Amino acid sequence: MHANKTLILTVLATAIAFGGCRKDPEPEELPVHAPVLPSTPYDYAGYVFPEGFIGSFLDLIESVPEDNPITNDGATLGRVLFYDVTLSANYTTSCASCHHQEHGFSDPLQKSVGFEGGETARNSLHLVNHQFSRRMFWDLRANNLESQVLMPIQDSIEMGLTLEELIDRLNSTSYYPSLFAKAFGTSEITTDRVSKALAQFVRSIVSYNTKYDQGIVNDFADFTEQELLGKSIFFNGVTHCNQCHVSRNFHLTSPLNNGLDAITTDPGYGNVSTNPESDGKFKVPSLRNVGLTAPYMHDGRFATLLDVINHYDHDVQPHPYLDDRLTIESQTGGTPYSLNLSEDEKHALVAFLHTLTDYDLINDPKFSDPFPE
Ligand code: HEC
Ligand code: HEC
Repeated sequence: MHANKTLILTVLATAIAFGGCRKDPEPEELPVHAPVLPSTPYDYAGYVFPEGFIGSFLDLIESVPEDNPITNDGATLGRVLFYDVTLSANYTTSCASCHHQEHGFSDPLQKSVGFEGGETARNSLHLVNHQFSRRMFWDLRANNLESQVLMPIQDSIEMGLTLEELIDRLNSTSYYPSLFAKAFGTSEITTDRVSKALAQFVRSIVSYNTKYDQGIVNDFADFTEQELLGKSIFFNGVTHCNQCHVSRNFHLTSPLNNGLDAITTDPGYGNVSTNPESDGKFKVPSLRNVGLTAPYMHDGRFATLLDVINHYDHDVQPHPYLDDRLTIESQTGGTPYSLNLSEDEKHALVAFLHTLTDYDLINDPKFSDPFPE
C-alpha cells in the first residue's frame, strides 16, 4: 500500500515536472525508496566517554533506561526511521528535515517547516549527548527521550500521522520488518519499538572529541591566544556562563530565565508546570556544537553568537524570575547585570564557543542519511 502511494506520488510529481506528460513510466524506472546500509552495522553502542568527562553532576543525571540500552541494530533501525519521509503524512518530511547533521542536528531556519509548510512554534533544538538530558523540549514538556520521539510524528504541524497510520505504513514497506527483526528479535512493529529505536539513535549522537576536549588533555596547548582569552572569560566567575552552562556538557537540566524579555511572550516551562514561578523559563541547552546551530534561543531570535554575547553583555531584561546569576544583587528578579566586554573580549568568547564544535560528529557516516538521493 505504501509502495503504491509512493508510486502514485512519484508518477504525479514526474507528470507535473514534465509539463503534464501522461506517459506512465514502468515501475522499474522509478527510484526505489529503501535505505542502503552497511552489511555489518556501524558501531553505535561502543562509545566511551574519556576519563574525567562524566565527573560530578553528569554522573548524577546520566540516564539510559534499563530496558533500552543502545544496540548497533537498534540504532541502525533508529537511523533509518530518523531519515525516512514515510513517517510524515504526505511523504515529505523526516526528523532530519529539521535536525540536520551538518548543523549539529539543528535547523538553520528560525522556525522549522512542517510537512504541509506550517511553521513550528519554536526554534529546532540540536541533538547531542542526550543521555545527560532528563526532560525534553525547550519547555521540558516531554518526560524522557522515549516519549519525546513519538511526538513530532503525531504533531499536526511537523509530521501529521497517527500512531496507527505509522504502524500500517511501516508494515507495508519492504525494509522495516527485517530491520525490526534484527533490532528486536521478531519482525513485529509496535510504537514501543519505534520509540525505542529512535531514542537509541538520538542517544547515540554523542560528542566528546572537540578542540576543547583535546585541550583538557594537553592543557590547551593548541588553543590560540584568542581562544584562551575567551575560555578565561567564560569561566571567570563574573560572566557566570559556566554556572548555567555547566560541566563538560555545558548544560543544565532545570529550566531558567536568562533575561530575554521583560514581558513574557512565550511562557515556556510556565505552560508545563503548575508552579507560577516557572513563567518565562526555558531549557539550558548544551553549548556543544553551538558554532553550528544558529540561530539561537527558543525562538531563534539571535542570528549569530556575537548577538548572543551582546545580549548577555548589555541587554539582559528585568523579569520577576530572572535568574539570580544574571543580576547585580545575586537575587532572583534582581537588577540585570551588564558585562561591558570590549569588542576583542566578545570575539574571544565567540572563538572559545567554536572550540566546542565536534567535527567527528557532523562527518560520521553512521549518523548520515541512509536513503540514496
Ligand atoms: C518540522 C520540524 C521538526 C521535525 C519533523 C522534527 N523535529 Fe524535533 N524538534 C523540532 C523543534 C522545533 C523542536 C523544539 C520544539 C520545542 O522545544 O518546543 C524539536 C525538538 C526535538 C527534541 C528535543 C531536544 C531537547 O534538547 O530537548 C528532540 C530529541 C527531537 N526534536 C527529535 C526529533 C525526532 C526523533 C524527530 C522525528 C521523529 C523529530 N525531532 C522531528 C522540529 C522538528
Ligand atoms: C542564568 C543562567 C545562564 C547564564 C549565566 C548564561 N546562560 Fe546562556 N542560556 C541560558 C538559558 C536559559 C538559555 C536558553 C534561553 C531561551 O532560549 O529562552 C541560554 C542560551 C544560550 C545560548 C543559545 C543556545 C542555543 O542553542 O540556542 C548561548 C550560545 C549561550 N546561552 C551562551 C552563554 C554565554 C556565553 C554566557 C555567559 C556570557 C551565558 N550563556 C550565560 C542560561 C544562562
